[in-house]
Amino acid sequence: MTDIAHPHKIEHVAELLRNATRIAVLTGAGMSAESGIETFRQPQTGLWARYNPMELAHVDALARDPKTVTEWYHWRFSKCADAKPNPGHEALARLQQLKRDAGGDVAVLTQNIDGLHQVGGARDIVELHGSILRWRCQKTGEMRPIREVDFSSFPPTSEAGGVLRPDIVLFGEMLPIDALEAAERAVMSCDVFLTIGTSAVVYPAAGYIDLAISRGVPTVEINPDATPMTGSVSHALRGPSGAVLPELLRRMRD
Ligand code: OAD
Repeated sequence: MTDIAHPHKIEHVAELLRNATRIAVLTGAGMSAESGIETFRQPQTGLWARYNPMELAHVDALARDPKTVTEWYHWRFSKCADAKPNPGHEALARLQQLKRDAGGDVAVLTQNIDGLHQVGGARDIVELHGSILRWRCQKTGEMRPIREVDFSSFPPTSEAGGVLRPDIVLFGEMLPIDALEAAERAVMSCDVFLTIGTSAVVYPAAGYIDLAISRGVPTVEINPDATPMTGSVSHALRGPSGAVLPELLRRMRD
Protein backbone atom coordinates (compact mmCIF):
# COMPACT_ATOMS: atom_id res chain seq x y z
CA MET A 1 0.00 0.00 0.00
CA THR A 2 1.34 3.37 -0.98
CA ASP A 3 -0.14 6.70 -0.12
CA ILE A 4 2.78 8.94 -0.93
CA ALA A 5 0.52 10.66 -3.40
CA HIS A 6 -1.67 11.70 -0.47
CA PRO A 7 -1.04 15.39 -1.02
CA HIS A 8 -2.08 16.85 2.34
CA LYS A 9 -0.03 14.46 4.39
CA ILE A 10 3.19 14.78 2.42
CA GLU A 11 2.78 18.54 2.13
CA HIS A 12 2.33 18.80 5.88
CA VAL A 13 5.46 16.74 6.58
CA ALA A 14 7.43 18.77 4.02
CA GLU A 15 6.41 21.89 5.93
CA LEU A 16 7.50 20.35 9.23
CA LEU A 17 10.90 19.61 7.72
CA ARG A 18 11.15 23.07 6.18
CA ASN A 19 10.55 24.72 9.56
CA ALA A 20 12.72 22.36 11.61
CA THR A 21 16.21 23.29 12.71
CA ARG A 22 17.34 19.99 14.21
CA ILE A 23 16.08 16.73 12.78
CA ALA A 24 16.94 13.25 14.07
CA VAL A 25 16.51 10.30 11.72
CA LEU A 26 16.55 6.63 12.64
CA THR A 27 17.09 4.36 9.64
CA GLY A 28 16.87 0.61 9.14
CA ALA A 29 17.29 -2.01 6.46
CA GLY A 30 14.38 -0.69 4.36
CA MET A 31 16.46 2.39 3.61
CA SER A 32 18.84 0.19 1.59
CA ALA A 33 16.19 -2.12 0.10
CA GLU A 34 16.08 -0.11 -3.13
CA SER A 35 19.87 -0.49 -3.34
CA GLY A 36 19.32 -4.25 -3.58
CA ILE A 37 20.25 -5.15 0.00
CA GLU A 38 17.89 -7.59 1.67
CA THR A 39 15.97 -6.56 4.75
CA PHE A 40 15.71 -8.93 7.72
CA ARG A 41 12.08 -9.46 8.61
CA GLN A 42 10.09 -9.28 5.41
CA PRO A 43 8.27 -12.54 4.71
CA GLN A 44 10.05 -14.72 2.09
CA THR A 45 12.65 -12.18 1.01
CA GLY A 46 13.98 -11.15 4.44
CA LEU A 47 17.30 -12.62 5.59
CA TRP A 48 15.73 -13.97 8.79
CA ALA A 49 13.13 -15.82 6.72
CA ARG A 50 15.97 -17.84 5.18
CA TYR A 51 18.69 -17.88 7.85
CA ASN A 52 18.63 -18.41 11.58
CA PRO A 53 19.96 -15.32 13.34
CA MET A 54 20.85 -17.39 16.40
CA GLU A 55 23.28 -19.42 14.25
CA LEU A 56 24.76 -16.46 12.36
CA ALA A 57 24.25 -13.17 14.15
CA HIS A 58 24.57 -14.07 17.84
CA VAL A 59 27.73 -13.61 19.86
CA ASP A 60 27.50 -17.26 21.01
CA ALA A 61 27.43 -18.43 17.39
CA LEU A 62 30.65 -16.53 16.71
CA ALA A 63 32.31 -18.19 19.70
CA ARG A 64 31.01 -21.64 18.73
CA ASP A 65 31.52 -21.51 14.97
CA PRO A 66 33.63 -18.53 13.84
CA LYS A 67 34.14 -20.08 10.40
CA THR A 68 30.43 -20.13 9.50
CA VAL A 69 29.73 -16.71 11.01
CA THR A 70 32.65 -14.92 9.32
CA GLU A 71 31.92 -16.64 6.01
CA TRP A 72 28.32 -15.43 6.19
CA TYR A 73 29.33 -11.85 6.94
CA HIS A 74 31.87 -11.97 4.13
CA TRP A 75 29.03 -13.02 1.81
CA ARG A 76 26.89 -10.19 3.20
CA PHE A 77 29.75 -7.77 2.55
CA SER A 78 29.94 -8.89 -1.09
CA LYS A 79 26.31 -7.78 -1.47
CA CYS A 80 27.00 -4.41 0.16
CA ALA A 81 30.11 -3.90 -1.98
CA ASP A 82 28.00 -4.20 -5.14
CA ALA A 83 25.33 -1.81 -3.85
CA LYS A 84 25.00 1.87 -4.65
CA PRO A 85 23.15 4.50 -2.61
CA ASN A 86 19.57 5.00 -3.80
CA PRO A 87 17.62 8.26 -4.20
CA GLY A 88 16.52 7.98 -0.54
CA HIS A 89 20.10 8.05 0.75
CA GLU A 90 20.87 10.95 -1.57
CA ALA A 91 17.81 12.95 -0.53
CA LEU A 92 18.65 12.48 3.15
CA ALA A 93 22.20 13.71 2.50
CA ARG A 94 20.79 16.77 0.70
CA LEU A 95 18.43 17.45 3.60
CA GLN A 96 21.39 17.28 6.00
CA GLN A 97 23.37 19.73 3.86
CA LEU A 98 20.40 22.11 3.62
CA LYS A 99 19.94 22.18 7.39
CA ARG A 100 23.66 22.52 8.06
CA ASP A 101 23.89 25.43 5.62
CA ALA A 102 21.09 27.08 7.60
CA GLY A 103 22.83 26.52 10.95
CA GLY A 104 20.85 23.43 11.94
CA ASP A 105 21.52 19.74 11.58
CA VAL A 106 20.18 16.35 10.57
CA ALA A 107 21.56 13.57 12.76
CA VAL A 108 21.43 10.21 11.00
CA LEU A 109 21.23 7.28 13.40
CA THR A 110 21.38 4.04 11.48
CA GLN A 111 21.00 0.38 12.29
CA ASN A 112 22.52 -0.41 8.91
CA ILE A 113 26.06 -1.73 8.63
CA ASP A 114 26.41 -1.18 4.87
CA GLY A 115 28.01 2.29 4.80
CA LEU A 116 25.58 3.51 2.12
CA HIS A 117 24.56 6.70 3.96
CA GLN A 118 28.18 7.80 3.82
CA VAL A 119 28.59 6.91 0.14
CA GLY A 120 25.35 8.81 -0.52
CA GLY A 121 26.95 11.94 0.92
CA ALA A 122 25.62 12.13 4.48
CA ARG A 123 28.09 13.01 7.23
CA ASP A 124 28.73 12.03 10.86
CA ILE A 125 26.55 8.93 10.71
CA VAL A 126 25.87 7.33 14.08
CA GLU A 127 26.32 3.63 13.40
CA LEU A 128 24.31 2.00 16.16
CA HIS A 129 25.09 -1.54 14.95
CA GLY A 130 28.63 -0.91 13.70
CA SER A 131 29.96 -1.36 10.18
CA ILE A 132 30.69 -4.40 8.05
CA LEU A 133 33.41 -2.39 6.33
CA ARG A 134 35.65 -2.60 9.44
CA TRP A 135 36.88 -5.87 10.95
CA ARG A 136 38.38 -6.23 14.39
CA CYS A 137 40.94 -8.61 15.88
CA GLN A 138 39.39 -10.46 18.79
CA LYS A 139 42.79 -10.84 20.45
CA THR A 140 44.20 -7.30 20.24
CA GLY A 141 41.17 -5.17 19.37
CA GLU A 142 43.02 -3.84 16.32
CA MET A 143 40.64 -2.50 13.68
CA ARG A 144 41.23 -2.72 9.94
CA PRO A 145 39.35 -1.87 6.77
CA ILE A 146 37.83 -4.92 5.12
CA ARG A 147 40.02 -4.54 2.05
CA GLU A 148 43.01 -5.35 4.27
CA VAL A 149 41.50 -8.60 5.56
CA ASP A 150 42.80 -11.84 4.03
CA PHE A 151 39.77 -14.02 3.28
CA SER A 152 41.73 -16.92 1.78
CA SER A 153 40.54 -19.04 4.72
CA PHE A 154 37.79 -18.76 7.34
CA PRO A 155 37.76 -17.45 9.94
CA PRO A 156 40.21 -14.77 8.83
CA THR A 157 42.97 -14.14 11.37
CA SER A 158 45.34 -11.31 12.17
CA GLU A 159 49.12 -11.51 12.33
CA ALA A 160 48.67 -11.72 16.13
CA GLY A 161 46.73 -14.96 15.62
CA GLY A 162 43.33 -13.59 16.67
CA VAL A 163 40.10 -14.14 14.76
CA LEU A 164 39.11 -11.11 12.69
CA ARG A 165 35.40 -10.43 13.00
CA PRO A 166 33.19 -7.68 11.55
CA ASP A 167 32.99 -4.60 13.78
CA ILE A 168 29.25 -4.96 14.07
CA VAL A 169 26.90 -5.53 16.97
CA LEU A 170 25.80 -9.16 17.23
CA PHE A 171 22.76 -10.24 19.20
CA GLY A 172 23.88 -10.59 22.81
CA GLU A 173 26.35 -7.68 22.54
CA MET A 174 26.15 -4.10 23.77
CA LEU A 175 25.81 -1.23 21.33
CA PRO A 176 28.85 1.09 21.23
CA ILE A 177 28.54 3.58 24.07
CA ASP A 178 29.62 6.56 21.91
CA ALA A 179 26.86 5.78 19.41
CA LEU A 180 24.26 5.42 22.17
CA GLU A 181 25.25 8.75 23.68
CA ALA A 182 25.29 10.56 20.33
CA ALA A 183 21.89 9.09 19.43
CA GLU A 184 20.34 10.10 22.71
CA ARG A 185 21.69 13.64 22.42
CA ALA A 186 20.27 13.92 18.89
CA VAL A 187 16.83 12.63 19.87
CA MET A 188 16.68 14.79 23.00
CA SER A 189 17.50 17.94 21.03
CA CYS A 190 15.55 17.41 17.79
CA ASP A 191 12.44 19.30 16.81
CA VAL A 192 11.31 16.65 14.29
CA PHE A 193 12.04 12.92 14.36
CA LEU A 194 11.91 10.56 11.38
CA THR A 195 11.92 6.76 11.47
CA ILE A 196 12.66 5.31 8.05
CA GLY A 197 12.69 1.72 6.82
CA THR A 198 12.81 -0.02 10.16
CA SER A 199 10.41 -2.60 11.56
CA ALA A 200 10.95 -0.87 14.94
CA VAL A 201 11.16 -4.11 16.88
CA VAL A 202 14.87 -4.27 17.77
CA TYR A 203 15.85 -2.45 20.96
CA PRO A 204 17.53 -0.29 22.06
CA ALA A 205 17.38 1.38 18.60
CA ALA A 206 13.57 1.27 18.43
CA GLY A 207 13.52 2.97 21.83
CA TYR A 208 14.55 6.24 20.16
CA ILE A 209 11.15 6.33 18.50
CA ASP A 210 9.49 5.98 21.94
CA LEU A 211 11.80 8.66 23.30
CA ALA A 212 10.90 11.12 20.54
CA ILE A 213 7.19 10.39 21.00
CA SER A 214 7.49 10.91 24.75
CA ARG A 215 9.14 14.31 24.15
CA GLY A 216 6.09 15.38 22.19
CA VAL A 217 7.98 16.43 19.04
CA PRO A 218 6.41 15.60 15.67
CA THR A 219 7.35 12.06 14.63
CA VAL A 220 7.17 10.76 11.07
CA GLU A 221 7.38 7.16 9.86
CA ILE A 222 8.35 6.41 6.25
CA ASN A 223 7.71 2.77 5.38
CA PRO A 224 5.66 0.92 2.74
CA ASP A 225 4.19 -1.25 5.51
CA ALA A 226 2.79 -0.69 8.96
CA THR A 227 5.00 -1.29 12.01
CA PRO A 228 4.20 -1.49 15.73
CA MET A 229 4.92 2.29 15.83
CA THR A 230 2.60 3.32 13.01
CA GLY A 231 -0.30 4.05 15.33
CA SER A 232 1.87 6.06 17.72
CA VAL A 233 3.77 8.40 15.37
CA SER A 234 2.30 11.76 14.38
CA HIS A 235 2.46 11.01 10.63
CA ALA A 236 2.92 7.77 8.72
CA LEU A 237 3.91 8.14 5.08
CA ARG A 238 3.35 4.81 3.37
CA GLY A 239 5.84 4.27 0.57
CA PRO A 240 9.43 3.35 -0.24
CA SER A 241 12.02 5.78 1.12
CA GLY A 242 13.63 6.03 -2.33
CA ALA A 243 10.45 7.73 -3.56
CA VAL A 244 9.12 9.46 -0.43
CA LEU A 245 12.32 11.25 0.61
CA PRO A 246 13.05 12.84 -2.81
CA GLU A 247 9.39 13.91 -2.99
CA LEU A 248 9.61 15.52 0.46
CA LEU A 249 12.76 17.37 -0.58
CA ARG A 250 11.12 18.59 -3.76
CA ARG A 251 8.11 19.91 -1.84
CA MET A 252 10.27 21.46 0.87
CA ARG A 253 12.02 23.57 -1.73
CA ASP A 254 8.86 24.61 -3.57
P1 OAD B 1 13.78 -5.17 9.27
O1 OAD B 1 14.03 -6.17 8.19
O2 OAD B 1 13.31 -5.69 10.58
O3 OAD B 1 12.70 -4.12 8.76
C1 OAD B 1 12.83 -3.51 7.51
C2 OAD B 1 11.70 -2.51 7.35
O4 OAD B 1 11.91 -1.83 6.11
C3 OAD B 1 10.32 -3.14 7.28
O5 OAD B 1 9.45 -2.45 8.17
C4 OAD B 1 9.89 -2.92 5.82
O6 OAD B 1 8.49 -2.71 5.70
C5 OAD B 1 10.66 -1.67 5.49
N1 OAD B 1 10.93 -1.47 4.05
C6 OAD B 1 11.06 -2.38 3.07
N2 OAD B 1 11.33 -1.80 1.91
C7 OAD B 1 11.39 -0.46 2.14
C8 OAD B 1 11.66 0.67 1.34
N3 OAD B 1 11.90 0.58 0.04
N4 OAD B 1 11.62 1.90 1.93
C9 OAD B 1 11.37 2.02 3.25
N5 OAD B 1 11.13 0.98 4.06
C10 OAD B 1 11.14 -0.25 3.52
O7 OAD B 1 15.11 -4.30 9.42
P2 OAD B 1 15.55 -3.36 10.64
O8 OAD B 1 14.39 -2.70 11.27
O9 OAD B 1 16.67 -2.53 10.14
O10 OAD B 1 20.38 -6.22 13.62
O11 OAD B 1 16.13 -4.44 11.63
C11 OAD B 1 16.75 -4.01 12.82
C12 OAD B 1 17.89 -4.91 13.17
O12 OAD B 1 17.46 -6.28 13.18
C13 OAD B 1 19.03 -4.92 12.15
O13 OAD B 1 19.94 -3.88 12.35
C14 OAD B 1 19.66 -6.25 12.37
C15 OAD B 1 18.40 -7.09 12.45
O14 OAD B 1 18.51 -8.31 13.06
C16 OAD B 1 21.37 -7.11 13.85
O15 OAD B 1 21.73 -7.94 13.01
C17 OAD B 1 22.00 -6.98 15.19
